[in-house]
Amino acid sequence: MIRRTDFLTKNYGVPNGWSLSVYEKTGGYEAAKKALAMTREAVVDEAKKANLRGRGGAGFPMGVKWSFMRPHPTKPAYLVINADEGEPGTHKDRTLMELNPHSVVEGCIIGCYGIGAHVAYIYVRDELHLSKARLWGAIDEARAKGYLGKTPFGKDYPVEIYVHTGAGAYICGEETALLNSLEGKRGEPRLKPPFPAQAGAFGCPTTVNNLETIAAVPTIFTIGGEEFSKYSSLHYLNDGGVRLFGINGHVKKPGVHELAVGVTIRELVEDIGGGVLGGRRILGVIPGGSSTPILRADEKVNAPDEKSPLHPWHGKSVLDVPLGVDTMRGIGTMLGTCCVTVLAEGTCPVLAMHNLMQFYRHESCGQCTPCREGGAWLLGTVEKILDGHGTMADLNTLTDVANNIMGNTICAFGEGTAMPALGFIGKFRKDFVAYINGERKRSDARLTIS
Ligand SMILES: Cc1cc2nc3c(=O)[nH]c(=O)nc-3n(C[C@H](O)[C@H](O)[C@H](O)COP(=O)(O)O)c2cc1C
Repeated sequence: MIRRTDFLTKNYGVPNGWSLSVYEKTGGYEAAKKALAMTREAVVDEAKKANLRGRGGAGFPMGVKWSFMRPHPTKPAYLVINADEGEPGTHKDRTLMELNPHSVVEGCIIGCYGIGAHVAYIYVRDELHLSKARLWGAIDEARAKGYLGKTPFGKDYPVEIYVHTGAGAYICGEETALLNSLEGKRGEPRLKPPFPAQAGAFGCPTTVNNLETIAAVPTIFTIGGEEFSKYSSLHYLNDGGVRLFGINGHVKKPGVHELAVGVTIRELVEDIGGGVLGGRRILGVIPGGSSTPILRADEKVNAPDEKSPLHPWHGKSVLDVPLGVDTMRGIGTMLGTCCVTVLAEGTCPVLAMHNLMQFYRHESCGQCTPCREGGAWLLGTVEKILDGHGTMADLNTLTDVANNIMGNTICAFGEGTAMPALGFIGKFRKDFVAYINGERKRSDARLTIS
């Protein structure tokens, strides 16, 4: 079901919509005033009621994550905002930074208070120049008004926010690599435990939230956690509220839209994205960034067990399943960042996989052997197949290598490489075999549609 909302996006497109004056005209900073008048425990409880599943990809409940923060006898706590957004097909956080940066600042004030931190770092991908400029501008405006600094809204609870720029490494979006990078170290993921709530930035208790997650916080405190949760038709699965949905790939109207959780893939592609380019049919969709396994358009939901969260869609097309954290998991993929990439019929899945493997091979930090070497094997082997030199043994090698990456690396980058590879190989085997049998050539595989 499509339900459009505009909590986060109402000033998108409004002249100077990113400025403090426009933000305040539409109720901005009232939520921070309200939250700072509550106890810290009540702030965390309200956040829990929202059932907001982290918007960075893993879908962990935001309020529960906040509740892991315990005051440390000697160390300060930190809030770290992940705005590294570098996953192919993901393009939502950037719109918030550019068009609604004060929601991020206000969310940081509330978040810092809730978790007991006085400093928030926003880690932004360096290439996002306008995003950085808008964030710096919003922080300056808020500081000039006294909303940041020693006594935000008259409360004796100092809060400061700093923007830290990355250097364009996808791995630095992984929260512990991000923390290393923030500390000036090499951007390599850390072993967990300890988790950031125990030992995060500079060895201190830290909460890492995605940028959209924190930007949604003022809405939660404006309308109330429960009310926020109920916007979602999946709130009974603890997947609450409204979120930014991205749509890209072979659609007529790519973009970012704020909708209540509950919209189906088909609705997003056809009604919001304007349908597939050239009036073609959908070959497949990648639900939430390139790390999430592809779904074929002709797949059906198999959930005969009445207890399964997928049972209501048993026998239906996967395209008719609402985009939710548990619903996508139930059909063997992931919601990830909720930015859907559409592949039109006629796309060559082997070329598509090759494209992704180039990215993952390039972006592996190299720390873990299965990921460093496996990524190179996956790329080299799919290239061999594309070039017409592949054998059936190579197809098995692809599967073996991908399976050997799964679960054998420090961070989830390994899975992010292996899962899409396994998805393409498993669901489009015939296309790989066509190259191996010489029935298809790389030179014929490019698709041009408009
Ligand atoms: C390779 C990799 C890249 C990631 N990139 C991002 C990113 O760009 N932005 C983000 O918010 N989370 C990213 N994540 C997820 C973070 O590790 C973390 O789960 C998230 O920032 C937590 O915020 P949330 O709970 O609000 O979703 C990435 C994870 C991995 C494994």
